[in-house]
Amino acid sequence: MPEADGTLGKKVFIETYGCQMNLADSELMGGVLADTGYSSAESLEEADVILINTCAVRERAEDRVFGRLSHLLRFKNDKPELVLGVTGCMAEHLRDKITDQAPYVDLVIGPDAYRRLPALLDKATGEARDPVIDVKLDKAEVYEGLTPKRKPGVGGWVTVQRGCDKFCTFCIVPFVRGRERGVPPHEILRQVENLAERGYKEVTLLGQTVNSYRYEDVDFADLLEQIVPIEGIERIRFTSPYPTDFTPKLIETIARHDKICNYLHLPAQSGSNRMLDEMRRQYTREEYDQLVDDIRAAVPDIALSTDIIVGFPGETEEDFEQTMELMESTRFDFAYLFKYSERSNTYASRNLPDDIDEEVKGERLKKIIALQESISAEVFKSKVGGTYTVLVEGESRRDPNELCGRTGDFKTVVFPKADGRDIEAGDLVDVKVTDCTSHTLLGELA
Ligand code: SAH
Ligand code: F3S
Repeated sequence: MPEADGTLGKKVFIETYGCQMNLADSELMGGVLADTGYSSAESLEEADVILINTCAVRERAEDRVFGRLSHLLRFKNDKPELVLGVTGCMAEHLRDKITDQAPYVDLVIGPDAYRRLPALLDKATGEARDPVIDVKLDKAEVYEGLTPKRKPGVGGWVTVQRGCDKFCTFCIVPFVRGRERGVPPHEILRQVENLAERGYKEVTLLGQTVNSYRYEDVDFADLLEQIVPIEGIERIRFTSPYPTDFTPKLIETIARHDKICNYLHLPAQSGSNRMLDEMRRQYTREEYDQLVDDIRAAVPDIALSTDIIVGFPGETEEDFEQTMELMESTRFDFAYLFKYSERSNTYASRNLPDDIDEEVKGERLKKIIALQESISAEVFKSKVGGTYTVLVEGESRRDPNELCGRTGDFKTVVFPKADGRDIEAGDLVDVKVTDCTSHTLLGELA
């Protein structure tokens, strides 16, 4: 029920930058606001409130938001009562810079303040013309009892863990998202059951180091066991696991249940032990390789992806070659490849000079992207001729006569609709793969 008449009929537009956790948080904010009488704006033009949910993980992400804010100023000029807010990690990281550089921003709120969003918006709409700021981190907040406002679709996200305690030396996440905390299992089950009731077929469990999940005596493998029986949910995914938080029990759980998808994102960051140590990643190259071997032994057809940072302080050609070698030997299905970006507050920013030339970083990035592109192309080609179960997501963007969906191992498949077969989003169908590009499989209904 709407709490205050003032919010009735007001429309909010939420724009999201960054990771899946941010997309999930935007849905959470949408839910909180819907409960207080706000509805979703279809466009920026019709919005009474615009919220930019931001990422702070690399400098470029923050630069983009500043660019976006100066663009949005025109909407404020056209409609002075418009409330413009910055939420999420960058609000936490750069509240002063935001209010200095974009003084027209009305609201700056961090990732633990979303429960207070309606009250903060009321305050921002009131007389006060100073920006309303709430960046308090709260080591207990897991947003229990709130129901996100999800877009209709075949898959939904459920956050099972917030924050991060690992403090990798390059990473800002522990500073902007606070301490690691698990969502109680009964709340996670409520969320997944809610997805199933509403017709979603797939759930992706989210956490910064999702497999370190623990709530009282329930660990991540136990949590998966509790989710598997939920009827209607056909596929379970999770991201991102942290390499040293895999247990034999978890690997065995993944292997035993068909519903748990045969795809894992396994951030490696580097192939050099010296860099891994400086990054404080808690594993060696050998331990990472062993983990990949153990996972592949248990789930032979599993697809793997990774995150890599090139140009970390002190990275020599030799360190970089070891990362190239890791990519060649592991043969990830795909990879997210980044140039090191110094982030204030982190151990690296305080102790390790950002000493790799921008040009060298750029060259290394180009080299590793080229290598991964060729590996991805080979991996995708190896799928041609096989038949895979695809969860249909809808019509392909290119052609309304085609459908698209994902395989269990997270590859996009595009295939023509078939005469006489009424296939809809949410259906599981077998598709024979006949061709591919380096990022998409092409096929026909089997
Ligand atoms: N544990 C999280 C990581 C979040 S950050 C997860 O896997 O979901 C996502 C990725 O961004 C990291 O794995 C890392 O590769 C990259 N990253 C983080 N901090 C960075 C920095 N300072 N510079 C460049 N890349 C960074
Ligand atoms: Fe960042 Fe390392 Fe946690 S990359 S999110 S500090 S696991």
